[in-house]
Amino acid sequence: MKILMVCLGNICRSPLAEGIMRHLVDEQGLGWHIASAGTGDWHVNQPADRRSIAVAKNFGYDISKQRARHFNKQMFDAYDYILVMDQNNLRDVLRLADDHEQRKKVKLFLTEENEVTDPYFDDRLFEPVFLEIEERCKQLIQELKPLS
Ligand code: 4NP
Repeated sequence: MKILMVCLGNICRSPLAEGIMRHLVDEQGLGWHIASAGTGDWHVNQPADRRSIAVAKNFGYDISKQRARHFNKQMFDAYDYILVMDQNNLRDVLRLADDHEQRKKVKLFLTEENEVTDPYFDDRLFEPVFLEIEERCKQLIQELKPLS
């Protein structure tokens, strides 16, 4: 199973989703490949936002070694699932898809059309965003295990 987490900058939300998911799947010995990318390219090669690194560390996850990448078309074929944080990410990723095969891999990370709020402009959002992402990662593992 290969899963790509996508947000706008690839420094706040999707690095959390990547780091948490990788930690949890490794704990369970699942052997899945987890990565992340951003639809924007401003932060390429940079570490995650210090606030994401800090909240992850508080809860026992190390995301400090991850580096931002820019989403590109090759990623449609490289991953089984492309999980996006909000509707803008969904639109931007789907715009690059060539066909139904690629489009059907792209889903919102959360359930029922919910979006993960962008915490970039509000320090207080990092902890609730972390908790929401951690909870959903645990759920996703249960949902996807039977399919792997
Ligand atoms: P992210 O948050 O999409 O969760 O990584 C953002 C990070 C940076 C910017 C916007 C959102 N930015 O405009 O630079």
